[in-house]
Amino acid sequence: MPGNDHPSLLMAARKLASARRVAVVTGAGVSAESGIPTFRDKSAMPGSMQALWKDFDPLTLATPEAFASDPQRVSRWYDWRRLGCLAAQPNPGHLALARLERELAARAGRLTLITQNVDRLHQKAGSANVVELHGNILAWRCTSTGREVTPPPEPMTQFPPVSPFRQGAQLRPCVVWFGEMLPPDAISAADEAAASCDVFMSVGTSAVVYPAAGLLHVARAAGAFTVEVNKDATPATGVVDVALQGPSGEILPSLLRLAFGHAPP
Ligand code: OAD
Repeated sequence: MPGNDHPSLLMAARKLASARRVAVVTGAGVSAESGIPTFRDKSAMPGSMQALWKDFDPLTLATPEAFASDPQRVSRWYDWRRLGCLAAQPNPGHLALARLERELAARAGRLTLITQNVDRLHQKAGSANVVELHGNILAWRCTSTGREVTPPPEPMTQFPPVSPFRQGAQLRPCVVWFGEMLPPDAISAADEAAASCDVFMSVGTSAVVYPAAGLLHVARAAGAFTVEVNKDATPATGVVDVALQGPSGEILPSLLRLAFGHAPP
């Protein structure tokens, strides 16, 4: 991780301190220090449950076809993940992004926090302007009526869960599966934020899943200063103005301290 006097960290902090509009896209890496597994991680060993797509095949779990062919297995897996998200607490990276929103608001600026995460930890940390590109795992919806419910914070007892809204229907998590459309409002809010920001940050994402990965290019084309925070190199690393390598739970608080001083108690 770069030291506090590292030129890249100082440059990113200076840009943040003078920015009015900032857009941040986050991925699973920002929640890794809260104990939530990522999907792809260069250093995770198969069987470690640290990178889900090393231990599970997404095609058998994260597609509408998978749910149609084995709803019991798919809903059980999503309930296991839901419980993990409910039990997790925000880490210093989430808290730093919540602080960034407040610092910018105090300067008549604005942060748009675009997340691919479904864990709701940004909101738990206090972030308000969050755009959820891939939905959220705490809400489930009826396969027949589309109505949503928030199941209680205990393990479900029936798989697939039965819909309370229509007989014979089931509940599925309100996440976006491969092959499904992203929520149109979320895409347009994310695009608009990327196209109009002074600083764009890509945090804890492998930057391989589109359209989220394309936001960096939208921001660059519009002239934003671009920053990556990731513990490993990604396809975004060679594209951004500044790449900060290390855990987001350490880099983001340092960046905020350098840009805005120590957090008020
Ligand atoms: P990935 O699991 O693909 O990438 C996580 C990134 O975070 C990797 O580049 C890690 O190196 C990095 N990382 C891990 N721990 C970190 C830490 N403490 N600090 C900083 N970086 C860290 O997750 P996403 O990019 O979010 O979609 O994946 C995108 C989408 O692919 C997900 O939303 C999900 C998945 O399939 C769906 O399920 C639709």
